[in-house]
Amino acid sequence: MTQHTEQDTPVIELRHVDKHFGDLHVLRDINLSVARGEVLVVIGPSGSGKSTMCRTINRLETIDSGEVLIEGVPLPEEGRELAAMRAELGMVFQSFNLFAHKTILENVTLGPIEVLGQDRASAEKTARELLARVGVAEQADKVPAQLSGGQQQRVAIARSLAMRPKAMMFDEPTSALDPEMINEVLDVMVELARGGMTMVVVTHEMGFARRVADRVVFMADGRIVEEGTPDEFFDHPKTDRAREFLDSIKGH
Ligand SMILES: Nc1ncnc2c1ncn2[C@@H]1O[C@H](COP(=O)(O)OP(=O)(O)OP(=O)(O)O)[C@@H](O)[C@H]1O
Ligand SMILES: [Mg+2]
Repeated sequence: MTQHTEQDTPVIELRHVDKHFGDLHVLRDINLSVARGEVLVVIGPSGSGKSTMCRTINRLETIDSGEVLIEGVPLPEEGRELAAMRAELGMVFQSFNLFAHKTILENVTLGPIEVLGQDRASAEKTARELLARVGVAEQADKVPAQLSGGQQQRVAIARSLAMRPKAMMFDEPTSALDPEMINEVLDVMVELARGGMTMVVVTHEMGFARRVADRVVFMADGRIVEEGTPDEFFDHPKTDRAREFLDSIKGH
Protein backbone atom coordinates (compact mmCIF):
# COMPACT_ATOMS: atom_id res chain seq x y z
CA MET A 1 0.00 0.00 0.00
CA THR A 2 1.28 3.42 -0.84
CA GLN A 3 0.80 6.52 1.18
CA HIS A 4 1.30 9.85 -0.44
CA THR A 5 2.40 12.88 1.49
CA GLU A 6 3.18 16.35 0.28
CA GLN A 7 6.95 16.09 0.62
CA ASP A 8 7.23 12.74 -1.14
CA THR A 9 9.30 13.08 -4.26
CA PRO A 10 8.45 10.41 -6.84
CA VAL A 11 11.14 7.75 -7.15
CA ILE A 12 10.73 7.84 -10.93
CA GLU A 13 9.23 10.67 -12.94
CA LEU A 14 8.88 11.13 -16.68
CA ARG A 15 7.86 14.57 -17.92
CA HIS A 16 6.77 15.12 -21.49
CA VAL A 17 9.06 12.41 -22.80
CA ASP A 18 9.17 12.04 -26.57
CA LYS A 19 11.18 9.65 -28.62
CA HIS A 20 11.44 8.63 -32.27
CA PHE A 21 13.12 5.73 -33.96
CA GLY A 22 13.64 7.34 -37.36
CA ASP A 23 10.13 8.20 -38.58
CA LEU A 24 8.47 6.13 -35.89
CA HIS A 25 7.15 8.24 -33.02
CA VAL A 26 7.57 5.60 -30.37
CA LEU A 27 6.94 7.64 -27.18
CA ARG A 28 4.47 10.53 -27.30
CA ASP A 29 4.37 12.99 -24.46
CA ILE A 30 4.77 10.41 -21.71
CA ASN A 31 4.04 11.77 -18.24
CA LEU A 32 4.34 9.33 -15.41
CA SER A 33 5.38 9.29 -11.82
CA VAL A 34 5.99 6.35 -9.55
CA ALA A 35 5.78 6.94 -5.81
CA ARG A 36 7.92 5.23 -3.21
CA GLY A 37 6.65 1.72 -2.57
CA GLU A 38 4.26 1.88 -5.49
CA VAL A 39 3.82 -1.05 -7.88
CA LEU A 40 3.02 0.19 -11.36
CA VAL A 41 2.02 -2.35 -13.98
CA VAL A 42 2.36 -1.34 -17.63
CA ILE A 43 0.31 -3.21 -20.18
CA GLY A 44 -0.52 -2.73 -23.82
CA PRO A 45 -0.28 -4.26 -27.26
CA SER A 46 2.96 -5.37 -28.84
CA GLY A 47 4.89 -2.43 -30.25
CA SER A 48 3.13 0.17 -28.10
CA GLY A 49 6.40 1.36 -26.55
CA LYS A 50 6.41 -0.40 -23.18
CA SER A 51 10.00 -1.68 -23.40
CA THR A 52 11.24 1.57 -24.87
CA MET A 53 9.69 3.52 -22.00
CA CYS A 54 11.38 1.22 -19.46
CA ARG A 55 14.69 1.60 -21.23
CA THR A 56 14.48 5.39 -21.25
CA ILE A 57 14.10 5.33 -17.47
CA ASN A 58 17.73 4.33 -17.07
CA ARG A 59 18.94 5.80 -20.33
CA LEU A 60 19.49 2.52 -22.12
CA GLU A 61 17.63 4.60 -24.71
CA THR A 62 18.09 8.31 -25.20
CA ILE A 63 15.07 10.59 -25.42
CA ASP A 64 14.40 13.38 -27.93
CA SER A 65 12.79 15.73 -25.46
CA GLY A 66 11.35 15.84 -21.98
CA GLU A 67 12.88 14.80 -18.70
CA VAL A 68 13.50 11.67 -16.68
CA LEU A 69 14.04 12.24 -12.96
CA ILE A 70 15.11 9.76 -10.32
CA GLU A 71 14.16 10.98 -6.85
CA GLY A 72 13.77 14.42 -8.32
CA VAL A 73 17.22 14.50 -9.93
CA PRO A 74 17.35 14.69 -13.74
CA LEU A 75 19.19 11.76 -15.29
CA PRO A 76 22.58 12.89 -16.55
CA GLU A 77 23.28 12.45 -20.26
CA GLU A 78 26.31 10.26 -19.88
CA GLY A 79 29.44 9.49 -17.92
CA ARG A 80 30.19 8.47 -14.38
CA GLU A 81 27.12 10.10 -12.86
CA LEU A 82 24.84 8.26 -15.27
CA ALA A 83 26.52 4.96 -14.42
CA ALA A 84 25.98 5.66 -10.73
CA MET A 85 22.29 6.48 -11.18
CA ARG A 86 21.78 3.50 -13.44
CA ALA A 87 23.09 1.27 -10.68
CA GLU A 88 20.29 2.60 -8.47
CA LEU A 89 17.64 1.06 -10.70
CA GLY A 90 17.36 -2.70 -10.95
CA MET A 91 16.28 -4.08 -14.29
CA VAL A 92 15.10 -7.59 -15.07
CA PHE A 93 14.40 -8.55 -18.66
CA GLN A 94 12.73 -11.39 -20.48
CA SER A 95 16.14 -12.97 -21.08
CA PHE A 96 18.03 -13.51 -17.87
CA ASN A 97 21.40 -12.17 -19.02
CA LEU A 98 23.42 -13.99 -16.38
CA PHE A 99 27.15 -14.39 -16.92
CA ALA A 100 27.37 -17.89 -18.35
CA HIS A 101 30.87 -18.70 -17.12
CA LYS A 102 30.45 -17.47 -13.60
CA THR A 103 28.78 -19.29 -10.74
CA ILE A 104 25.41 -18.18 -9.44
CA LEU A 105 27.11 -16.76 -6.35
CA GLU A 106 29.64 -14.84 -8.49
CA ASN A 107 26.83 -13.50 -10.65
CA VAL A 108 25.26 -11.96 -7.56
CA THR A 109 28.46 -10.69 -5.91
CA LEU A 110 30.10 -9.17 -8.98
CA GLY A 111 28.20 -5.85 -8.98
CA PRO A 112 28.42 -5.27 -5.23
CA ILE A 113 32.18 -5.94 -5.26
CA GLU A 114 33.08 -4.14 -8.51
CA VAL A 115 30.60 -1.28 -8.47
CA LEU A 116 29.71 -0.77 -4.80
CA GLY A 117 33.17 -1.67 -3.49
CA GLN A 118 31.93 -4.21 -0.97
CA ASP A 119 34.42 -6.71 0.41
CA ARG A 120 34.01 -10.27 -0.80
CA ALA A 121 32.93 -11.73 2.53
CA SER A 122 30.06 -9.32 3.09
CA ALA A 123 29.02 -9.45 -0.58
CA GLU A 124 28.85 -13.24 -0.36
CA LYS A 125 26.90 -13.14 2.86
CA THR A 126 24.32 -10.80 1.33
CA ALA A 127 24.25 -12.84 -1.89
CA ARG A 128 23.50 -16.06 0.00
CA GLU A 129 20.70 -14.34 1.91
CA LEU A 130 19.21 -13.06 -1.34
CA LEU A 131 19.53 -16.42 -3.07
CA ALA A 132 17.73 -18.00 -0.12
CA ARG A 133 15.05 -15.34 -0.31
CA VAL A 134 14.33 -16.19 -3.97
CA GLY A 135 14.50 -19.91 -3.23
CA VAL A 136 17.72 -20.94 -4.99
CA ALA A 137 20.20 -21.12 -2.09
CA GLU A 138 21.30 -24.63 -3.07
CA GLN A 139 22.28 -23.50 -6.56
CA ALA A 140 24.96 -21.03 -5.45
CA ASP A 141 27.95 -22.95 -6.78
CA LYS A 142 26.45 -23.99 -10.12
CA VAL A 143 26.68 -22.12 -13.42
CA PRO A 144 23.53 -20.67 -15.06
CA ALA A 145 23.14 -23.44 -17.67
CA GLN A 146 22.62 -25.94 -14.85
CA LEU A 147 19.51 -24.06 -13.67
CA SER A 148 15.97 -23.97 -15.03
CA GLY A 149 14.69 -20.79 -16.64
CA GLY A 150 12.61 -19.98 -13.60
CA GLN A 151 15.60 -20.45 -11.32
CA GLN A 152 17.79 -18.30 -13.56
CA GLN A 153 15.22 -15.53 -13.56
CA ARG A 154 15.07 -15.64 -9.77
CA VAL A 155 18.87 -15.36 -9.70
CA ALA A 156 18.59 -12.34 -12.00
CA ILE A 157 16.23 -10.76 -9.48
CA ALA A 158 18.61 -11.55 -6.60
CA ARG A 159 21.47 -10.05 -8.59
CA SER A 160 19.54 -6.82 -9.07
CA LEU A 161 18.54 -6.69 -5.41
CA ALA A 162 22.17 -7.09 -4.35
CA MET A 163 22.77 -3.60 -5.75
CA ARG A 164 20.21 -2.20 -3.27
CA PRO A 165 18.22 -0.47 -5.99
CA LYS A 166 15.85 2.41 -5.32
CA ALA A 167 13.38 0.78 -7.68
CA MET A 168 13.09 -2.37 -9.74
CA MET A 169 11.94 -2.52 -13.32
CA PHE A 170 10.72 -5.73 -14.88
CA ASP A 171 10.17 -6.06 -18.62
CA GLU A 172 8.09 -9.18 -19.26
CA PRO A 173 10.15 -11.22 -16.81
CA THR A 174 8.07 -14.36 -17.25
CA SER A 175 7.28 -14.35 -20.96
CA ALA A 176 10.22 -16.58 -21.93
CA LEU A 177 9.44 -19.14 -19.25
CA ASP A 178 7.66 -22.47 -19.45
CA PRO A 179 4.22 -22.16 -17.87
CA GLU A 180 5.08 -24.17 -14.78
CA MET A 181 7.90 -21.76 -13.94
CA ILE A 182 5.95 -18.53 -14.24
CA ASN A 183 4.42 -18.62 -10.79
CA GLU A 184 7.67 -19.24 -8.97
CA VAL A 185 9.00 -15.98 -10.45
CA LEU A 186 5.76 -14.07 -9.91
CA ASP A 187 5.71 -15.23 -6.28
CA VAL A 188 9.13 -13.65 -5.73
CA MET A 189 7.82 -10.42 -7.27
CA VAL A 190 4.74 -10.49 -5.06
CA GLU A 191 6.97 -10.82 -2.00
CA LEU A 192 9.11 -7.91 -3.17
CA ALA A 193 6.02 -5.78 -3.65
CA ARG A 194 4.75 -6.69 -0.19
CA GLY A 195 8.14 -5.73 1.21
CA GLY A 196 7.63 -2.21 -0.10
CA MET A 197 9.86 -2.22 -3.18
CA THR A 198 9.05 0.44 -5.77
CA MET A 199 8.35 -1.49 -8.96
CA VAL A 200 7.55 -0.90 -12.62
CA VAL A 201 6.38 -4.13 -14.21
CA VAL A 202 5.62 -4.69 -17.88
CA THR A 203 3.64 -7.89 -18.02
CA HIS A 204 0.88 -9.82 -19.72
CA GLU A 205 0.13 -11.63 -16.46
CA MET A 206 -3.24 -10.07 -15.72
CA GLY A 207 -3.79 -12.08 -12.52
CA PHE A 208 -0.56 -10.67 -11.14
CA ALA A 209 -1.53 -7.17 -12.25
CA ARG A 210 -4.87 -7.39 -10.51
CA ARG A 211 -3.45 -8.73 -7.29
CA VAL A 212 -0.30 -6.68 -6.95
CA ALA A 213 -0.57 -3.43 -8.90
CA ASP A 214 -1.35 -0.21 -7.09
CA ARG A 215 -1.91 1.32 -10.52
CA VAL A 216 -2.18 0.06 -14.08
CA VAL A 217 -0.98 2.08 -17.03
CA PHE A 218 -2.27 1.13 -20.46
CA MET A 219 -0.11 2.12 -23.43
CA ALA A 220 -1.02 2.10 -27.11
CA ASP A 221 0.81 3.67 -30.06
CA GLY A 222 3.42 5.32 -27.88
CA ARG A 223 0.93 7.03 -25.58
CA ILE A 224 -0.39 6.43 -22.11
CA VAL A 225 -4.02 6.01 -23.05
CA GLU A 226 -5.44 5.16 -19.69
CA GLU A 227 -4.41 4.67 -16.09
CA GLY A 228 -6.21 3.63 -12.95
CA THR A 229 -6.44 1.10 -10.18
CA PRO A 230 -6.56 -2.53 -11.34
CA ASP A 231 -10.29 -2.70 -10.56
CA GLU A 232 -11.02 0.49 -12.48
CA PHE A 233 -8.96 -0.60 -15.44
CA PHE A 234 -9.97 -4.24 -15.74
CA ASP A 235 -13.63 -3.85 -14.78
CA HIS A 236 -14.39 -0.41 -16.18
CA PRO A 237 -11.96 0.51 -18.96
CA LYS A 238 -12.70 4.03 -20.12
CA THR A 239 -11.46 3.89 -23.71
CA ASP A 240 -12.37 1.71 -26.70
CA ARG A 241 -8.68 1.01 -27.20
CA ALA A 242 -8.36 -0.53 -23.75
CA ARG A 243 -11.62 -2.45 -24.10
CA GLU A 244 -10.44 -3.92 -27.41
CA PHE A 245 -7.12 -4.90 -25.87
CA LEU A 246 -8.75 -6.54 -22.86
CA ASP A 247 -11.16 -8.44 -25.13
CA SER A 248 -8.25 -9.61 -27.28
CA ILE A 249 -6.39 -11.15 -24.38
CA LYS A 250 -9.39 -12.77 -22.70
CA GLY A 251 -9.14 -16.51 -22.65
CA HIS A 252 -5.37 -16.51 -23.14
N1 LIG B 1 16.14 -0.02 -31.61
C1 LIG B 1 15.05 0.18 -32.34
N2 LIG B 1 15.13 0.71 -33.58
C2 LIG B 1 14.02 0.94 -34.31
N3 LIG B 1 12.76 0.67 -33.90
C3 LIG B 1 12.62 0.14 -32.68
C4 LIG B 1 13.74 -0.14 -31.83
N4 LIG B 1 13.28 -0.69 -30.68
C5 LIG B 1 11.94 -0.73 -30.80
N5 LIG B 1 11.53 -0.24 -31.99
C6 LIG B 1 10.15 -0.09 -32.44
O1 LIG B 1 9.50 0.77 -31.51
C7 LIG B 1 8.15 0.34 -31.28
C8 LIG B 1 7.96 0.09 -29.79
O2 LIG B 1 8.75 -1.00 -29.41
P1 LIG B 1 8.77 -1.57 -27.94
O3 LIG B 1 9.74 -2.69 -27.93
O4 LIG B 1 8.99 -0.47 -26.99
O5 LIG B 1 7.29 -2.11 -27.80
P2 LIG B 1 6.65 -3.01 -26.66
O6 LIG B 1 5.39 -2.34 -26.24
O7 LIG B 1 7.66 -3.32 -25.63
O8 LIG B 1 6.24 -4.34 -27.47
P3 LIG B 1 6.25 -5.89 -27.02
O9 LIG B 1 4.97 -6.12 -26.25
O10 LIG B 1 6.23 -6.65 -28.31
O11 LIG B 1 7.48 -6.13 -26.21
C9 LIG B 1 7.98 -0.90 -32.14
O12 LIG B 1 7.33 -0.50 -33.33
C10 LIG B 1 9.36 -1.38 -32.41
O13 LIG B 1 9.44 -2.07 -33.62
MG1 LIG C 1 8.56 -5.08 -25.00
